[in-house]
Parts: sequence; C-alpha cells; structure tokens
Amino acid sequence: MSPTASLDRAAPPHTKHSTPTAHTAAATSNRPSAAGGGTPGQSPVRARVPGVERGLPSLPVLHPTIGAPIVDIRTLPREQGCYAYDPALGETAICRSAITHVDGDNGVLLYRGYPIDAVVEHCSFLETAWLLLNGELPDAAQLAQFTRDISRHTMVNEQVHAIYRGFRRDAHPMAVMCGVVGAVAAFYHDGLDIFDARDRVIASHRLIAKMPTIAAMAYKYSQGQPFAYPNNELGYAANLLNMLFSVPCEPYSAPAVAVKALEALLIIQADHEQNASTSAMRLVGSTRANPYVCTAAAIAALWGPLHGGANEAVLRTLEEIGTADRIPEMLRRAKDKNDPYRLMGFGHRVYKSYDPRAKVLRPLCHQLLQALGQRDDPLLRLAIELERVVLEDDYFIERKLYPNVDFYSGIIYRALGLPPVMFTPVFAVARTVGWVAHWNEMITDPETRIFRPRQLYQGPTERPLPAIAERRSYPPLVG
Ligand SMILES: CC(C)(COP(=O)(O)OP(=O)(O)OC[C@H]1O[C@@H](n2cnc3c(N)ncnc32)[C@H](O)[C@@H]1OP(=O)(O)O)[C@@H](O)C(=O)NCCC(=O)NCCS
Repeated sequence: MSPTASLDRAAPPHTKHSTPTAHTAAATSNRPSAAGGGTPGQSPVRARVPGVERGLPSLPVLHPTIGAPIVDIRTLPREQGCYAYDPALGETAICRSAITHVDGDNGVLLYRGYPIDAVVEHCSFLETAWLLLNGELPDAAQLAQFTRDISRHTMVNEQVHAIYRGFRRDAHPMAVMCGVVGAVAAFYHDGLDIFDARDRVIASHRLIAKMPTIAAMAYKYSQGQPFAYPNNELGYAANLLNMLFSVPCEPYSAPAVAVKALEALLIIQADHEQNASTSAMRLVGSTRANPYVCTAAAIAALWGPLHGGANEAVLRTLEEIGTADRIPEMLRRAKDKNDPYRLMGFGHRVYKSYDPRAKVLRPLCHQLLQALGQRDDPLLRLAIELERVVLEDDYFIERKLYPNVDFYSGIIYRALGLPPVMFTPVFAVARTVGWVAHWNEMITDPETRIFRPRQLYQGPTERPLPAIAERRSYPPLVG
C-alpha cells in the first residue's frame, strides 16, 4: 500500500483497529461530579444542576481496546446544563487514537500494539516511524521506499542557513529550533493542502527528514563550526551523529555502539501518546495551521523542564550534586516537604510501577559507558552511584519513584558527547515522528474540532466601570 492510500481523506479512522464502542449507561464512577465538587481551595458546595443533584447523570460510556472505560461527557451542557472541571486534562481523553498505549500502573508502553522492548530489539528507527505513521510494520519494499523518501528530503533550503546566522551563537538550541522549524513553514506553506493525503505525506516526510539536519545545524552554529550536510548513505541515527560531530578537516565515523544507543533512544522517544507536546501539536493542528508551525509549538512545549527539558535538568542536577559524598544531602532536600527541590530524572506522572523505557535504556546505557570507556567520567560515575542509592532508599521505594527515561537518556546523550543544551533538541528529532503521526490521525478524524476548552470563571461578576478619580489603588496581580 502506498503512503498516500493509507492516509486517504475518505478513509475513516481506526479502520484497521477495533473502534471504541459507545453504549448508554449510568456513569458509575465514584469520582465527585465536577459541577458538584465546589471551588478548589474552598469547601465543596453541591451545585444545583438538574439531574446531577440526584446523583451522576446518565452518560454514554466508550470502551477502548485496552484500558478503563471512558465516560462521554459531550452531552453534559445540553442535557444537564453543566460542564466538567479537569485542569491539566489529567482525567480526560482528548481524542480517539490508535497509535500508542501507555499503562502506567503496569509499566507498559505499546506502539501500535507492539511492546517497546520488542520494537527496540527488532526495528530500526525508520521502521518504527513507518509503524507509528501507518499502523502496521512495513514490508521490505515499503521500508526501502520509505528510506529513499526520507533521505530525499534531508537537506534544508540554503536560505535557511541565513536564518541561523540571525541568532546569537550562545542562543539555546531549543530557541533556535522553535524559530527555524516555524520558519520552514515559510518555504512550504504554498501548495500545502492539509486535507490532501499526498500533501500530508510529503509534509510528514519533510519534517521527519529535516529535523536531524535542523537540530545538528543548531549545534554546529553554537560551536562556530561549519554546517555538515546530511549523508544519505548513512542510517538515520548515524547521519545525525555525523552532522553533529563531523568537521570538514578530518574523517569521522560514529562508533557502532554509539549509533546503536542513539537509534534505541530515538525509538524510545518517538511517541508517548497524549503528552504535553503532542497535545500542543494537536491543539495547534486543530486550528488547521500548517504542520510546520504545529511542530514549532510542539517543540516549545517539549522544552519545559517538566517535559522534554528533564533530561537536560538531570545533568544540571548531577553537576549541582558534584560529588558522591553530597548525595545524602541532596536526598534530604528532595524529601523535605518545605523545600521545592526535586531530584530530576526520578518519578513519573503516569508510570507508577516502573518506566518501561528506562528498563530498556538502563542496560544500553551501562553497555555504552563500558564500550566507550567512560565509566570513569566523574559525572557519569556519580550518576551510577545516585541510581544505586535512590533504588535502595525507602522514601523513593515507598513512593515508587524509579529512574525515568530522562535519567538514562541524559546520561546516554552525555556519553555520546552532547552538551546538556542539545539533549532536548535530539529528543525533539525523535518525537517529531509521534507528533506527525498524531497530526495525521487528527486531520483524518471526523470528530476533530478546533480545541476550545471551558473554564471555571472565578472573576468578578458584571460591575460598573469607575472614573479614574474614583478608583481605589490595588496591588497589581502581574509582577
Ligand atoms: C515527573 C513528576 C512531575 C511526576 O509528578 P507527580 O505524578 O505529580 O507525582 P507527585 O508529585 O504526586 O509525587 C508523589 C510523591 O513523590 C514525591 N516525588 C515525586 N517525584 C519526586 C522527585 N523527583 N524527587 C523527590 N520527591 C519526589 C512527591 O513529593 C510526592 O511525595 P508525597 O506523597 O510525600 O507528597 C515528578 O516525579 C517529578 O517532578 N520528577 C522530576 C522531574 C522529571 O524527572 N521529569 C521527567 C519525567 S519523564
């Protein structure tokens, strides 16, 4: 099947997968109703909403192929006269998706149904990309064609080089990535019809192909070195390493163990269902903005230290700890409820038993350090000691705070020779595949509407506007 056919406009979503079904049932959740839950920070007051005051309303229930049933609240305003309150959307499904499944309680991560450890063991990054985009693994001919398609788009327009030169050399590469990826929209906006399957495929290929080039150019620019052009003879990870570390004056060949570790890391970071950056991609995409600027928004979301920026924060934490004798002091701070300090690289919002990505990366990380002879690097030795101490510490054991993917990815990136500021840009390269897969899924989903959440308004009720002479002085809210 051609990529075009698989993304055909007329094809209904989820044709290859069982679609969640709906039946009307009384919502039996014991979670308090949002409308009846009162105002956060105040004592709960039951709202007088018809139907809700007598118990939870009767609402349709949707059944995913795996996981807990989901109450469809779309009829709440019309039939019950109320809305739902769920800041950060932690308890709300924002879309139907057939791409990735995460089971946080049991430490499971599936790409199109395949466990992450099996995907890392048996697939290349481009096979994984095809799987995430198209729902099934490619056959040999599809993989060969996809590899050719991606390599045909790896270069950026020469005019893009001039955009880099507008940035300061010491600019954070994520700031540069946001700007450059957004600017790429200026090159390809014309002729991009997001409702045309062929145009979507080309945009998807361009994004997956150009992101390594864009990230590597951000690094080269910060180093004051010439940009390295992509080499289409190399695999995806080897080409990225080549563009990051080669210089024109001497030959460069990335060590096989480094290529293997980076390929695994890229696969592991390729998707993670409705995380903050993917949700940003969907949110901006729902306005029908072109996919390049949607990706720029996703990159911005990824930059935050609670999301993709955590791997950079892990290295900063290690630098802050400095030496192994300071670990107990930092653990004391991490446990102190009066101290906002947290040990970066430990704990996860969703994975509460262990992080399956960390489980795959841990042995790879140790192998890499061994093979590159870096076990004696003081910072990496400190990381291994910190991992050992935390895994034996009651506070972390009781709260199920295990090293997460960012702990190991931070160490791997450092061992590969990347400075901390480049960790999140490389993460963005990997996650582009997930962003693009979700964007395609969203555009072809007939249920997609522009994102327009509600709010629990807590401002003043309507009031007369006083003349300036009659106004009292209040301290500003901002600043
Ligand atoms: C990822 C993270 C934001 C998840 O937070 P969360 O799901 O809201 O978890 P909670 O805040 O409910 O934490 C549960 C308990 O563990 C503690 N805790 C969580 N992560 C901790 C950490 N990294 N260091 C110290 N204590 C931590 C909390 O203080 C809380 O303790 P309490 O029950 O005594 O109050 C959080 O673990 C964290 O900040 N980790 C560090 C950042 C990081 O590595 N992010 C990358 C994730 S891939």
